[in-house]
Amino acid sequence: MKLAVSGKGGVGKTTVAGTLARILAARGMRVFAIDADPDANLASAIGVPLETAAATRPISEMSDLIRERTGAAPGESAPVYKMNPRVDDIPARMSAEAHGVRLLRLGTVKKGGAGCICPESALLRALVSHLLLAEKDVVIVDMEAGLEHLGRATARGVDAMLVVVEPGRRSLQTAEAISRLAADIGIGRVALVVNKVTGADAGFCDRLEEKYDLLGCLSFDEEVRLADLNGQAPYDAAPRYATAVARVLDKLETAIAKT
Ligand SMILES: Nc1ncnc2c1ncn2[C@@H]1O[C@H](COP(=O)(O)OP(=O)(O)OP(=O)(O)O)[C@@H](O)[C@H]1O
Ligand SMILES: [Mg+2]
Repeated sequence: MKLAVSGKGGVGKTTVAGTLARILAARGMRVFAIDADPDANLASAIGVPLETAAATRPISEMSDLIRERTGAAPGESAPVYKMNPRVDDIPARMSAEAHGVRLLRLGTVKKGGAGCICPESALLRALVSHLLLAEKDVVIVDMEAGLEHLGRATARGVDAMLVVVEPGRRSLQTAEAISRLAADIGIGRVALVVNKVTGADAGFCDRLEEKYDLLGCLSFDEEVRLADLNGQAPYDAAPRYATAVARVLDKLETAIAKT
């Protein structure tokens, strides 16, 4: 299974992605969790100890690796570099493992002009393609708000894009925009997860169900917030939230199995 998690800033993408990774690992799957957000914090949502996370660097900062694989140094607008560098050994070699989840941090690619395709972005693109198209294990990608790392070819490898939204009209507009973009690049299934729902939002979830592929509504949970403050994974410190995310996963798996 290959999943991407996206949505507006701060809605709870990383929390959902990290918890899904832990649930799938606990169910015996081999899981790669990919942090595609430059402001990387998927490690803490999975519960990867700080020392373990610190032992690996984001791929985009591995200058030697980038040079070795693409033939050009990061940031260099070299006239010639490999667009399809070898990446198949990178996931196993460069990931940090904890709780049965292997975490890969992609890091940031500084953008040049609109047409700039730098060596590091060629490497990242090849890596994400490989993970989504050729990797046999479960892959969960915690996206930044845009869909930068997902080119057309890669998008076909994603079984589902989960769009996390908070109750509210603006959040839904973002969800619509992401859905359109996802459909444009060829992602087959886009499904919503509503997060931080309180009693006052009861009607919101019901209304969504009529219009969207809705996987579930996750309550606002003080334990999730505290887990974050204490540097714990919600999977370990917020059992009610984790159970609700597991239900979301069950519903998604059923839907994927039907197609
Ligand atoms: N169900 C929930 N109940 C309470 N707090 C939550 C819940 N889900 C997420 N949060 C909190 O909301 C904050 C943002 O969550 P998270 O980092 O997962 O969002 P994000 O969408 O990945 O943000 P960003 O766009 O910055 O990457 C965190 O402090 C997290 O602990
Ligand atoms: Mg995040």
